[in-house]
Amino acid sequence: MTSIQDKNTWSGRFNEPVAELVKRYTASVSFDQKLALFDIQGSLAHANMLSHCDIIATQDLSDIQRGLAQIQAEILAGEFVWSLDLEDVHLNIEKRLTTLVGDAGKRLHTGRSRNDQVATDVRLYLRDAIDQLVQLIKELQSALLDLAQHHTLTIMPGFTHLQVAQPISFAHHLMAYFEMLKRDAERLQDCRSRVNRLPLGAAALAGTSYPINRQMVAESLGFETVCENSLDAVSDRDFAIEFTAAAALIMTHLSRFSEELILWMSPMVGFIDIADRFCTGSSIMPQKKNPDVPELVRGKTGRVNGHLIALLTLMKGQPLAYNKDNQEDKEPLFDTVDTLTQTLRIYADMITGIKVKPEAMRAAALQGYATATDLADYLVKKGLPFRDAHEAVALAVRYAEQRGCDLADIALADLQNFSALISDDIYQVLSLEGSLASRDHIGGTAPKQVAAAIARGWDYLSKR
Ligand code: ARG
Repeated sequence: MTSIQDKNTWSGRFNEPVAELVKRYTASVSFDQKLALFDIQGSLAHANMLSHCDIIATQDLSDIQRGLAQIQAEILAGEFVWSLDLEDVHLNIEKRLTTLVGDAGKRLHTGRSRNDQVATDVRLYLRDAIDQLVQLIKELQSALLDLAQHHTLTIMPGFTHLQVAQPISFAHHLMAYFEMLKRDAERLQDCRSRVNRLPLGAAALAGTSYPINRQMVAESLGFETVCENSLDAVSDRDFAIEFTAAAALIMTHLSRFSEELILWMSPMVGFIDIADRFCTGSSIMPQKKNPDVPELVRGKTGRVNGHLIALLTLMKGQPLAYNKDNQEDKEPLFDTVDTLTQTLRIYADMITGIKVKPEAMRAAALQGYATATDLADYLVKKGLPFRDAHEAVALAVRYAEQRGCDLADIALADLQNFSALISDDIYQVLSLEGSLASRDHIGGTAPKQVAAAIARGWDYLSKR
C-alpha cells in the first residue's frame, strides 16, 4: 500500500487534511479491493448507459472503456497499486482511470454516487458467490449419493437421544443430509432473486437529475429488476443478511454432520474411518488420529453464525439512507462466502474418503433392542391394541436384558409367555433386515425406498 498524497476527492470543502489515524480507520481498500472486478463491470454498464442517453460523449465512453480495460489487466496481473489515501476500491479505480484517460475518467461518476455504486458491487459479488456455492452444494450432494448407493443394505442403529432406537441403513442416514442440502440450495436460489436487483441510479439517496436509463443498466448487468426506491436501494443490506442466514443454516447442517462423523470415528464407536489426509496426529500421543476437519467445520459454524449477528446488528440502528456503518458489511460477508466455499469443497472431498465399517455398525444395531418396535407392531397387526403390545414388549426386553441376549435369541416358547399371539414368523420380524424392509413407504428406510430416493437424487442433480 503506497501513500500517494494527493488532493482528496472532496478536498474543496475541507480546511485540513484528514488525520492519519482517521484515514486508516475509515479506509476500506484493504478489504473492498475484492470488489474491484465487479466495480469495473458496474462502471462499464453505467458509462455505456450515460453515452447511450447522451449524458457523456461517445469519445468519453471509449476512453473510459480503454482505461478500465487497462485497470482490469493491472489488477489481474497483481500490478495495480492500491492507495490507502484513496480510501476505497471505488476511488482507487476512479483515480487511476483519470490518470490514464484524463477528463473522461472524471465524467464516469456523473449521475452516480459511491452509495449506489457500492450497493451494486456487493450485489454483483454476492450473485456470483451464490452461483458458485450452489454448484459446490451440488458437488457435495453428488458425493453423498455416490457413497449412499453402496450402502442401502448396510445396517446401522438409528438413534434418538443418542440411544439405539431402530435399525436404519447407512444410506438412509446419508440421504437425510442430501435433503438438508437440497433445501439449502433452494434457499440460496430464492435469496439470489432478491440480491439480483439494481441499486444504480439511486445515486446518493434521492435519484439523479440526469436523464438516465436504469432498465438498460439492469439488463446489461443481468439484474432481474431495479430497486424501486432510491433510499432503500442505497441503504438496506437485507439481501446480505438473508444470504448469511442461509449460509449459517448450511454450516449448521454440516456442523451436525461433523458431530456425527467425529462420533462415528471415535474408537468407542468405530463406524467409519476418515481418510488420513483429513486428520492430524497428536504431538504427544503417538496413537492419536484426530478428525480435525469435521471439528473445524463445527467450529467455523460459530464464526458464520457470528457474522449473521454482526450484520443484523450493523443494520438495526441505521436511519435512512446510507450510513458509513454499511462499510462494515463487507468483511463478515466476504468471510461468510470464503468459509462456506472452503467448507463445502473440503466436505465433498472428505465424503469420498470415508471408509465404512459395516460390521461395527451391525454389531451396534444388534445391541439395544433396536427391533423392539417391530415386535410391538407385529402384535398390533395380530389384533393387540398398541399400548398393550408396548407393555408386552417392554417385559420381553427386560427379560432379554436380564439374560444378556437379544430379542431374537429368546426361544419361541419363552417369547409366547409375553403374548400368545407370537408364532415362529416372529424371527423374520426381529431381524435387522426384516425391520428395514418393513418400512416400505416414501421416506422410509426400506432398501428399495432408499434406492428410489437415491435415484430421485440423481435425477434432481441432473436437472439443475
Ligand atoms: N466504502 C464505502 C462503503 O463501503 C463506499 C460508500 C461510501 N459512501 C459515502 N457516502 N461515504 O460503504
